[in-house]
Amino acid sequence: MTLDRRTVLAGGAAFTLAAGIPRAFAQKKIVLGFSQIGAESEWRTANTESIKSAAKDAGIELKFADAQQKQENQIKAIRSFIAQKVDVIAFSPVVETGFETVLREAKAAKIPVILTDRAVNVKDQSLWVSFMGSDFTEEGRKAGRWLVEKMKAEKGPVNIVELQGTVGSAPAIDRKKGFEEIIKADPKFKIVRSQTGDFTRAKGKEVMEAFLKAEGKKINVLYAHNDDMAIGAIQAIEEAGLKPAKDIVIISIDAVKGAFEAMMQGKLNVSVECSPLLGPQLMQAVKDVVAGKPVPKRIVTEEGIFPMEVAAKEFPKRKY
Ligand code: AHR
Repeated sequence: MTLDRRTVLAGGAAFTLAAGIPRAFAQKKIVLGFSQIGAESEWRTANTESIKSAAKDAGIELKFADAQQKQENQIKAIRSFIAQKVDVIAFSPVVETGFETVLREAKAAKIPVILTDRAVNVKDQSLWVSFMGSDFTEEGRKAGRWLVEKMKAEKGPVNIVELQGTVGSAPAIDRKKGFEEIIKADPKFKIVRSQTGDFTRAKGKEVMEAFLKAEGKKINVLYAHNDDMAIGAIQAIEEAGLKPAKDIVIISIDAVKGAFEAMMQGKLNVSVECSPLLGPQLMQAVKDVVAGKPVPKRIVTEEGIFPMEVAAKEFPKRKY
Protein backbone atom coordinates (compact mmCIF):
# COMPACT_ATOMS: atom_id res chain seq x y z
CA MET A 1 0.00 0.00 0.00
CA THR A 2 1.48 3.39 -0.96
CA LEU A 3 0.85 6.80 0.59
CA ASP A 4 -0.85 8.33 -2.45
CA ARG A 5 -3.37 5.51 -3.05
CA ARG A 6 -4.98 4.06 0.08
CA THR A 7 -7.62 1.43 0.62
CA VAL A 8 -10.26 2.20 3.21
CA LEU A 9 -13.12 0.10 4.51
CA ALA A 10 -16.48 1.83 4.71
CA GLY A 11 -19.81 0.08 5.27
CA GLY A 12 -18.12 -3.25 4.56
CA ALA A 13 -16.92 -2.29 1.06
CA ALA A 14 -13.34 -1.50 0.06
CA PHE A 15 -12.57 1.69 -1.91
CA THR A 16 -9.29 2.79 -3.40
CA LEU A 17 -8.82 6.51 -2.93
CA ALA A 18 -6.55 8.89 -4.79
CA ALA A 19 -4.00 11.26 -3.22
CA GLY A 20 -5.24 14.11 -1.04
CA ILE A 21 -7.68 12.11 1.11
CA PRO A 22 -7.69 13.39 4.71
CA ARG A 23 -5.59 11.16 6.97
CA ALA A 24 -8.51 10.42 9.28
CA PHE A 25 -10.23 8.45 6.49
CA ALA A 26 -7.16 6.57 5.37
CA GLN A 27 -6.43 3.11 6.73
CA LYS A 28 -3.57 3.11 9.20
CA LYS A 29 -0.49 1.12 8.23
CA ILE A 30 -0.25 -2.10 10.27
CA VAL A 31 2.76 -2.11 12.61
CA LEU A 32 4.40 -5.49 13.29
CA GLY A 33 7.06 -6.00 15.95
CA PHE A 34 9.26 -8.98 15.10
CA SER A 35 11.89 -10.45 17.41
CA GLN A 36 14.34 -12.62 15.47
CA ILE A 37 16.64 -15.13 17.20
CA GLY A 38 19.86 -13.91 15.60
CA ALA A 39 22.01 -14.71 12.58
CA GLU A 40 23.39 -18.07 13.68
CA SER A 41 22.90 -19.93 10.39
CA GLU A 42 22.36 -19.64 6.64
CA TRP A 43 18.76 -20.66 7.38
CA ARG A 44 18.26 -17.76 9.78
CA THR A 45 19.67 -15.22 7.30
CA ALA A 46 17.22 -16.46 4.65
CA ASN A 47 14.37 -16.31 7.19
CA THR A 48 15.18 -12.70 8.10
CA GLU A 49 15.36 -11.74 4.44
CA SER A 50 11.99 -13.44 3.77
CA ILE A 51 10.31 -11.56 6.64
CA LYS A 52 11.77 -8.17 5.71
CA SER A 53 10.90 -8.41 2.03
CA ALA A 54 7.41 -9.82 2.66
CA ALA A 55 6.64 -6.96 5.09
CA LYS A 56 7.72 -4.47 2.45
CA ASP A 57 5.60 -6.14 -0.24
CA ALA A 58 2.58 -6.28 2.10
CA GLY A 59 2.89 -2.59 3.09
CA ILE A 60 3.36 -3.55 6.74
CA GLU A 61 5.64 -1.41 8.92
CA LEU A 62 8.17 -3.80 10.45
CA LYS A 63 9.96 -3.12 13.72
CA PHE A 64 12.74 -5.71 13.64
CA ALA A 65 14.88 -6.70 16.63
CA ASP A 66 17.80 -9.15 16.56
CA ALA A 67 18.15 -11.03 19.87
CA GLN A 68 21.65 -12.35 19.18
CA GLN A 69 20.55 -15.80 20.36
CA LYS A 70 19.70 -14.54 23.86
CA GLN A 71 16.28 -15.06 25.42
CA GLU A 72 16.64 -11.99 27.65
CA ASN A 73 17.02 -9.84 24.50
CA GLN A 74 13.83 -11.34 23.06
CA ILE A 75 11.90 -10.60 26.24
CA LYS A 76 13.22 -7.01 26.21
CA ALA A 77 12.24 -6.61 22.55
CA ILE A 78 8.72 -7.92 23.18
CA ARG A 79 8.31 -5.52 26.12
CA SER A 80 9.47 -2.66 23.95
CA PHE A 81 6.94 -3.63 21.23
CA ILE A 82 4.20 -3.63 23.90
CA ALA A 83 5.30 -0.16 25.08
CA GLN A 84 5.24 1.07 21.47
CA LYS A 85 1.68 -0.32 21.09
CA VAL A 86 2.39 -2.23 17.88
CA ASP A 87 -0.61 -3.95 16.25
CA VAL A 88 0.86 -7.47 16.25
CA ILE A 89 3.94 -9.10 17.78
CA ALA A 90 5.63 -12.04 16.08
CA PHE A 91 8.72 -13.89 17.18
CA SER A 92 10.79 -16.99 16.72
CA PRO A 93 11.55 -18.09 20.28
CA VAL A 94 15.17 -19.00 20.92
CA VAL A 95 14.14 -21.60 23.53
CA GLU A 96 10.77 -23.15 24.40
CA THR A 97 10.34 -22.16 28.04
CA GLY A 98 10.37 -18.91 30.03
CA PHE A 99 8.07 -16.74 27.89
CA GLU A 100 4.89 -17.06 29.96
CA THR A 101 5.17 -13.74 31.83
CA VAL A 102 5.93 -11.56 28.82
CA LEU A 103 3.22 -13.27 26.77
CA ARG A 104 0.74 -12.50 29.53
CA GLU A 105 1.82 -8.86 29.37
CA ALA A 106 1.16 -8.82 25.61
CA LYS A 107 -2.26 -10.38 26.15
CA ALA A 108 -3.11 -7.82 28.85
CA ALA A 109 -2.16 -5.07 26.37
CA LYS A 110 -4.48 -6.78 23.81
CA ILE A 111 -1.66 -7.30 21.33
CA PRO A 112 -1.95 -10.62 19.44
CA VAL A 113 1.19 -12.75 19.25
CA ILE A 114 2.13 -15.00 16.33
CA LEU A 115 4.87 -17.61 16.71
CA THR A 116 7.02 -18.28 13.67
CA ASP A 117 9.43 -21.15 13.11
CA ARG A 118 9.70 -22.32 16.75
CA ALA A 119 7.10 -23.08 19.41
CA VAL A 120 6.89 -22.05 23.06
CA ASN A 121 6.02 -24.38 25.90
CA VAL A 122 3.28 -22.55 27.84
CA LYS A 123 0.23 -23.95 29.61
CA ASP A 124 -2.13 -21.23 28.46
CA GLN A 125 -2.50 -21.70 24.71
CA SER A 126 -4.50 -18.47 24.44
CA LEU A 127 -1.25 -16.52 24.92
CA TRP A 128 -0.55 -16.85 21.18
CA VAL A 129 -2.91 -16.83 18.23
CA SER A 130 -1.05 -18.86 15.63
CA PHE A 131 2.13 -20.88 15.19
CA MET A 132 3.55 -21.29 11.69
CA GLY A 133 6.58 -23.36 10.81
CA SER A 134 7.98 -26.82 10.28
CA ASP A 135 7.22 -30.07 12.07
CA PHE A 136 10.66 -30.60 13.62
CA THR A 137 9.82 -34.06 14.99
CA GLU A 138 8.89 -35.21 11.51
CA GLU A 139 12.19 -33.78 10.19
CA GLY A 140 14.03 -35.93 12.74
CA ARG A 141 11.97 -38.95 11.66
CA LYS A 142 12.80 -38.31 7.99
CA ALA A 143 16.52 -38.23 8.88
CA GLY A 144 16.12 -41.49 10.83
CA ARG A 145 14.18 -43.25 8.07
CA TRP A 146 16.79 -42.28 5.50
CA LEU A 147 19.54 -43.73 7.69
CA VAL A 148 17.67 -46.97 8.37
CA GLU A 149 17.22 -47.49 4.63
CA LYS A 150 20.84 -46.56 3.83
CA MET A 151 22.21 -48.98 6.44
CA LYS A 152 19.75 -51.83 5.92
CA ALA A 153 22.47 -54.22 4.73
CA GLU A 154 24.86 -53.35 7.60
CA LYS A 155 25.16 -55.76 10.51
CA GLY A 156 26.25 -53.05 12.92
CA PRO A 157 27.02 -51.66 15.30
CA VAL A 158 26.37 -48.32 13.56
CA ASN A 159 27.99 -45.68 15.75
CA ILE A 160 26.31 -42.31 15.46
CA VAL A 161 27.49 -38.93 16.73
CA GLU A 162 24.88 -36.22 17.06
CA LEU A 163 25.37 -32.46 16.82
CA GLN A 164 22.37 -30.96 18.59
CA GLY A 165 20.97 -27.48 18.03
CA THR A 166 20.66 -24.82 20.73
CA VAL A 167 19.94 -26.37 24.14
CA GLY A 168 16.26 -26.01 25.05
CA SER A 169 15.18 -24.93 21.56
CA ALA A 170 12.21 -26.62 19.89
CA PRO A 171 14.18 -27.88 16.86
CA ALA A 172 16.92 -29.42 19.04
CA ILE A 173 14.38 -31.19 21.27
CA ASP A 174 12.11 -32.38 18.47
CA ARG A 175 14.75 -33.35 15.90
CA LYS A 176 16.44 -35.53 18.53
CA LYS A 177 13.13 -37.07 19.52
CA GLY A 178 11.99 -37.84 15.96
CA PHE A 179 15.34 -39.37 14.96
CA GLU A 180 15.56 -41.56 18.07
CA GLU A 181 11.97 -42.70 17.61
CA ILE A 182 12.94 -44.28 14.26
CA ILE A 183 16.41 -45.69 14.99
CA LYS A 184 15.43 -47.29 18.29
CA ALA A 185 13.58 -50.00 16.33
CA ASP A 186 16.98 -51.55 15.51
CA PRO A 187 19.52 -51.98 18.33
CA LYS A 188 22.45 -51.89 15.89
CA PHE A 189 22.08 -48.07 15.85
CA LYS A 190 23.90 -46.46 18.76
CA ILE A 191 24.25 -42.77 19.51
CA VAL A 192 27.74 -42.80 21.02
CA ARG A 193 28.14 -39.03 21.49
CA SER A 194 25.61 -36.19 21.49
CA GLN A 195 26.40 -32.56 22.21
CA THR A 196 25.18 -29.11 21.24
CA GLY A 197 26.84 -27.16 18.44
CA ASP A 198 24.40 -24.27 18.93
CA PHE A 199 23.39 -24.35 15.23
CA THR A 200 26.64 -22.62 14.17
CA ARG A 201 29.45 -23.71 11.82
CA ALA A 202 32.19 -22.75 14.29
CA LYS A 203 30.66 -24.81 17.12
CA GLY A 204 29.84 -27.69 14.79
CA LYS A 205 33.51 -27.90 13.83
CA GLU A 206 34.73 -27.59 17.40
CA VAL A 207 32.43 -30.29 18.77
CA MET A 208 33.14 -32.64 15.84
CA GLU A 209 36.87 -32.29 16.55
CA ALA A 210 36.18 -33.42 20.11
CA PHE A 211 34.03 -36.34 18.87
CA LEU A 212 36.83 -37.43 16.53
CA LYS A 213 39.39 -37.22 19.31
CA ALA A 214 37.24 -39.34 21.59
CA GLU A 215 35.90 -41.91 19.11
CA GLY A 216 38.32 -41.77 16.16
CA LYS A 217 37.51 -44.15 13.32
CA LYS A 218 34.69 -45.78 15.27
CA ILE A 219 32.30 -43.07 14.06
CA ASN A 220 30.10 -44.32 11.20
CA VAL A 221 27.45 -41.59 11.04
CA LEU A 222 27.09 -37.89 11.87
CA TYR A 223 23.56 -36.61 12.46
CA ALA A 224 23.63 -32.78 12.61
CA HIS A 225 20.50 -30.85 13.56
CA ASN A 226 21.33 -28.26 10.88
CA ASP A 227 23.43 -27.82 7.74
CA ASP A 228 25.72 -25.19 9.22
CA MET A 229 26.94 -27.52 11.96
CA ALA A 230 27.37 -30.29 9.37
CA ILE A 231 29.44 -27.97 7.18
CA GLY A 232 31.66 -27.05 10.15
CA ALA A 233 31.98 -30.76 11.01
CA ILE A 234 32.94 -31.63 7.42
CA GLN A 235 35.96 -29.36 7.83
CA ALA A 236 36.92 -31.16 11.06
CA ILE A 237 36.54 -34.56 9.38
CA GLU A 238 38.77 -33.53 6.46
CA GLU A 239 41.37 -32.07 8.81
CA ALA A 240 41.40 -35.42 10.63
CA GLY A 241 42.34 -37.08 7.32
CA LEU A 242 38.94 -38.73 6.78
CA LYS A 243 36.56 -38.49 3.83
CA PRO A 244 33.19 -36.89 4.68
CA ALA A 245 30.17 -38.76 3.28
CA LYS A 246 32.37 -41.81 2.62
CA ASP A 247 34.20 -42.69 5.84
CA ILE A 248 31.43 -41.01 7.83
CA VAL A 249 27.85 -40.83 6.52
CA ILE A 250 26.51 -37.31 7.11
CA ILE A 251 22.85 -36.38 7.56
CA SER A 252 21.70 -32.82 8.27
CA ILE A 253 18.63 -30.61 8.22
CA ASP A 254 17.60 -27.36 6.45
CA ALA A 255 18.59 -27.95 2.80
CA VAL A 256 20.19 -24.52 2.41
CA LYS A 257 22.32 -23.75 -0.67
CA GLY A 258 25.52 -24.44 1.30
CA ALA A 259 24.30 -28.00 1.91
CA PHE A 260 23.57 -28.49 -1.79
CA GLU A 261 27.09 -27.30 -2.61
CA ALA A 262 28.51 -29.79 -0.10
CA MET A 263 26.35 -32.57 -1.58
CA MET A 264 27.47 -31.69 -5.12
CA GLN A 265 31.11 -31.95 -3.91
CA GLY A 266 30.29 -35.40 -2.52
CA LYS A 267 30.82 -34.34 1.12
CA LEU A 268 27.29 -34.52 2.55
CA ASN A 269 24.95 -37.47 2.03
CA VAL A 270 21.53 -35.96 2.62
CA SER A 271 19.71 -32.88 3.88
CA VAL A 272 16.14 -32.83 5.18
CA GLU A 273 14.29 -29.69 4.11
CA CYS A 274 13.22 -27.03 6.62
CA SER A 275 11.92 -23.96 4.83
CA PRO A 276 12.80 -20.50 6.20
CA LEU A 277 10.55 -18.72 3.68
CA LEU A 278 7.83 -17.88 6.19
CA GLY A 279 7.54 -14.15 5.41
CA PRO A 280 4.55 -14.10 3.01
CA GLN A 281 2.54 -16.47 5.23
CA LEU A 282 3.31 -14.38 8.30
CA MET A 283 2.21 -11.13 6.66
CA GLN A 284 -1.06 -12.71 5.54
CA ALA A 285 -1.71 -13.93 9.08
CA VAL A 286 -0.89 -10.47 10.49
CA LYS A 287 -3.40 -8.85 8.11
CA ASP A 288 -6.05 -11.43 8.98
CA VAL A 289 -5.56 -11.03 12.72
CA VAL A 290 -5.83 -7.25 12.45
CA ALA A 291 -8.97 -7.59 10.30
CA GLY A 292 -10.49 -9.87 12.95
CA LYS A 293 -10.51 -12.89 10.63
CA PRO A 294 -9.87 -16.33 12.10
CA VAL A 295 -6.35 -17.72 11.58
CA PRO A 296 -5.37 -21.38 11.97
CA LYS A 297 -3.78 -22.15 15.33
CA ARG A 298 -1.09 -24.26 13.58
CA ILE A 299 0.22 -23.80 10.04
CA VAL A 300 2.67 -26.57 9.09
CA THR A 301 5.21 -26.04 6.29
CA GLU A 302 5.34 -28.74 3.58
CA GLU A 303 8.87 -30.07 3.12
CA GLY A 304 10.95 -32.71 1.34
CA ILE A 305 14.27 -34.51 1.66
CA PHE A 306 17.27 -34.22 -0.68
CA PRO A 307 19.89 -36.95 -0.96
CA MET A 308 23.21 -36.08 -2.68
CA GLU A 309 22.19 -37.99 -5.82
CA VAL A 310 19.56 -35.34 -6.70
CA ALA A 311 21.51 -32.27 -5.52
CA ALA A 312 22.81 -31.09 -8.90
CA LYS A 313 19.36 -31.35 -10.49
CA GLU A 314 17.59 -29.60 -7.62
CA PHE A 315 20.16 -26.88 -6.92
CA PRO A 316 19.03 -24.40 -9.64
CA LYS A 317 15.49 -24.49 -8.18
CA ARG A 318 16.53 -23.68 -4.61
CA LYS A 319 15.40 -20.31 -3.28
CA TYR A 320 17.53 -20.23 -0.10
O1 AHR B 1 14.51 -23.06 14.01
C1 AHR B 1 15.03 -23.46 12.79
C2 AHR B 1 16.49 -23.76 12.95
O2 AHR B 1 17.18 -22.64 13.44
C3 AHR B 1 17.22 -24.12 11.69
O3 AHR B 1 17.15 -25.44 11.35
C4 AHR B 1 18.62 -23.75 12.06
O4 AHR B 1 19.51 -23.71 10.99
C5 AHR B 1 18.33 -22.43 12.66
O5 AHR B 1 19.36 -21.81 13.25
